[in-house]
Amino acid sequence: MASPLRQSSAAVEEFELGSGPVRQSVLKEEASARGVSIKLDGVSKRFGEKTILNDLNLSIEPGKFIAIIGRSGCGKSTLLRLLAGLDGISSGSLTRQDQPIAGINQDTRFMFQDARLLPWQTVLENVKIGLTVDKSAEAERKAYAALQLVGLADRAKEWSSVLSGGQRQRVALARALVGHPHLLLFDEPLGALDALTRIDMQRLIERLWQTRGFTAVLVTHDVSEAVALADRVILIDEGRAALDIPITLARPRVKDSGFAHFEKLILDRLLTPAEQSGTSLDELDFDI
Ligand SMILES: Nc1ncnc2c1ncn2[C@@H]1O[C@H](COP(=O)(O)OP(=O)(O)OP(=O)(O)O)[C@@H](O)[C@H]1O
Ligand SMILES: [Mg+2]
Repeated sequence: MASPLRQSSAAVEEFELGSGPVRQSVLKEEASARGVSIKLDGVSKRFGEKTILNDLNLSIEPGKFIAIIGRSGCGKSTLLRLLAGLDGISSGSLTRQDQPIAGINQDTRFMFQDARLLPWQTVLENVKIGLTVDKSAEAERKAYAALQLVGLADRAKEWSSVLSGGQRQRVALARALVGHPHLLLFDEPLGALDALTRIDMQRLIERLWQTRGFTAVLVTHDVSEAVALADRVILIDEGRAALDIPITLARPRVKDSGFAHFEKLILDRLLTPAEQSGTSLDELDFDI
């Protein structure tokens, strides 16, 4: 039996374009047309007295895969919420395709660590939620095709509550993709999965991103995941982009010495602030 990954790769192509001879070139053209550009110019975000993002500058080209890393509480989820239009900036300029982001855009989808499926609905119904119009037979066909992309078409009629954690995340991915978003925001979507499922999902996300051409922004705590998937890894520290590293490795990425080089570069910088403060855990005075 073919693996879910291979099934979904074939489904990507069929769903998108059928099996005509012009498939590959059309795929490329369409892919480049589907992502959106994002620009942050001196963006700050404050909650009361607290400044979370501070004069942040960032430019994302259409169709790029960006990974955002940083310590807990540094403002990664806040940044995604701004990109989604779920929250507003305090100052600066934030544009998408050179237009200010004002409110939620129908072309944007989110994927979280928790799949957030409705347990009283079937897998197929959960995917249909990703469509703005969900009554028609066309919506049913699209949702089914999206499930094929993630290798779960055979589970379409089951209750979502019977799925495993990894399968739920695949349904969440299908729900995110079904409306053909131009911007996909991932907030640690694979954080709760076991190592093998996680690698499978990373490959699936990469493959679907390559085929669909949307702009992807992935928040992750896993430096290895960031290097495996991203065109650029951005480290947020003290509200700013402290590091912006283009990952120049060929895809799909293998864990060779080049991969290790990027991992080390990022990890070293990630760990620097604590080291520079001159405080080690041994020196801290725990009063328990
Ligand atoms: N609506 C809000 N009102 C007040 N403070 C907020 C709000 N949203 C986020 N914050 C604060 O902003 C800071 C950054 O939060 P955010 O969720 O963006 O961090 P994060 O980098 O995603 O962290 P983690 O890695 O733990 O998920 C935190 O101190 C948080 O308490
Ligand atoms: Mg967060």
